[in-house]
Amino acid sequence: EKPTPLGRVEEEEEEEDDSGKKKVTVFFGTQTGTAEGFAKALVEEAKARYDKAVFKVVDLDDYAADDEQYEEKLKKEKLAFFMLATYGDGEPTDNAARFYKWFSETEKERGPWLSNLPYGVFGLGNRQYEHFNKVACTVDEALNEQGGKRLVPVGLGDDDQCIEDDFTAWREQVWPELDQLLRDEDDQPSSATPYTAAIPQYRVEIHDPPVPLYEETYATQNGQAFIDIHHPCRANVAVQRELHTPLSDRSCIHLEFDISGTGLTYETGDHVGVYAENLSDTVEEAAKLLGYPLDTIISVHSDKEDGTPLGGSSLLPPFPGPCTLQTALARYADLLNPPRKAALVALASHASDPAEAERLKFLSSPAGKDEYSQWITVSQRSLLEVMAEFPSAKPPLGVFFAAVAPRLQPRYYSISSSPRYASNRIHVTCALVYGPSPTGRIHKGVCSNWMKNSVPSEKSQYCSWAPVFVRQSNFKLPSDPSVPIVMVGPGTGLAPFRGFLQERAAIQKSGEKLGPAVLFFGCRNRQMDYIYEDELKSYVENGVLTELVLAFSREGATKEYVQHKITEKGSYIWNLIAQGGYLYVCGDAKGMARDVHRTLHSIVQEQESVDSTSAEATVKKLQTEGRYLRDVW
Ligand code: 2AM
Repeated sequence: EKPTPLGRVEEEEEEEDDSGKKKVTVFFGTQTGTAEGFAKALVEEAKARYDKAVFKVVDLDDYAADDEQYEEKLKKEKLAFFMLATYGDGEPTDNAARFYKWFSETEKERGPWLSNLPYGVFGLGNRQYEHFNKVACTVDEALNEQGGKRLVPVGLGDDDQCIEDDFTAWREQVWPELDQLLRDEDDQPSSATPYTAAIPQYRVEIHDPPVPLYEETYATQNGQAFIDIHHPCRANVAVQRELHTPLSDRSCIHLEFDISGTGLTYETGDHVGVYAENLSDTVEEAAKLLGYPLDTIISVHSDKEDGTPLGGSSLLPPFPGPCTLQTALARYADLLNPPRKAALVALASHASDPAEAERLKFLSSPAGKDEYSQWITVSQRSLLEVMAEFPSAKPPLGVFFAAVAPRLQPRYYSISSSPRYASNRIHVTCALVYGPSPTGRIHKGVCSNWMKNSVPSEKSQYCSWAPVFVRQSNFKLPSDPSVPIVMVGPGTGLAPFRGFLQERAAIQKSGEKLGPAVLFFGCRNRQMDYIYEDELKSYVENGVLTELVLAFSREGATKEYVQHKITEKGSYIWNLIAQGGYLYVCGDAKGMARDVHRTLHSIVQEQESVDSTSAEATVKKLQTEGRYLRDVW
């Protein structure tokens, strides 16, 4: 097994089991690894409970090489579970996207072909978002409609509260069902064999005397390698500048990644995924709390010295080594998010002070639910803050990287350029995340602070770089440039529209005729955070942008938001859309996009003189036709 730069193991297709044992497949659609972790935890516990079955964890992306195989493969399943996260505007994770499209779009035509496949679905979502757990609910319903046999109600995990508790509660419903399917009558019921999850742990080698460090290799497109989340390419920072004026007390960074020679390509409206490193003071603090010097050279293994795998299937593939502890903490450990309950359990098992161990156990227990919610979730207490409160809890490095600190995830940005304008560059427009948390700690967002501190190649030959990759989106301009477009993008929601405008400028230059384009942009104050002002003005001057409508929220006595301006121009806007135009919204999902959605609904009601229900149907139709598109977070 050879780890790729980010520690993912390339797995061979497993042979079908022919021992006559019942096969159970647990599929996952994961973005940050939580759904994958849940899938593995489910399998681990199930293995301990049922020895008359074989269990397999399957990344949906790896399930079938092409769509034609889905049906045939699914028909062979005996028992299936799906752990599915929902992202952004009710969308599936990247690794589930192809399956989700195939599965949800073919549902009506087929009839009950799944001939009683027993199944269960657990969803990972966030109640703050409009389309709470949409992917899980859609798959659950489609499985049912297509002949599957629902074993338990779909689990609605809510990341806004404690998703681990939701998962535990859902699992408790699963076991009695599996008892019936996977046990013989003379077996003990599974409650007779209480199960406690083993704490996953890597084997860590400390290299003393030192050994040469592992050289990171990053993907380039050479016919074999391809660039994706597991195989990013290395991109230098070419340009980095502040977009706010000195009058602003906040910061927004314009950054350009140089992708020349990497083979990486993108389209206007796509997202770039960026693997940033933790700030050095965060890393230093973590090393101090762990009690190891930063220059300790380590290798992390998921197998024993004799090559046999370490027990516990919930172990993630290790990250590459040998590397210094500094590198490991900077690149691979999420240190600032609030710790999960499983992390508290792992810390408790290594706390030398019994009082600390007790308190950690309590916080992770059902009895400590409210306290966990207050002291950890609501307070946004970071892992490092929690560790500082429990100084006797010093987990070994193998436990820390496997069970305490989750893997640091890439951050996604809507690309703010068009390849027709900058084919060798990916532009990013990034608001700095910096400010006090409820505990008084200054929270510094990992990637935005990395970008803020990054050194561009135009200023130094020792420029900053990061592993990056592109995630495709369906947030695209109409293929016919004469079709009217309406764009709504306050704050950094402007990002993809800057790309759209660059693309329209290129189209105009090539002599094609452009349809009308209206942009609603909003910020606090013209003098402070009106980003890309000159560019927007020149697009209006040369007709790339027909109309620029501005809303400044902190200039006058009352707040002016983009949706207020949209309401004022309701009839004009609806005219453009009713003519076949497209509406695009980008930015904050919980506030702005929700309010703009309501505004659209009211405009339809008023302009079409219809009731609320039929206005809703009109909006829905726009959405299914792909003429009302949202890129929200
Ligand atoms: P505010 O911070 O003054 O409330 C970009 O962030 C702009 O979006 C800011 O002017 C911000 O205003 C505004 N904004 C905040 N909440 C919003 C909402 N629910 N709808 C529209 N705009 C909003």
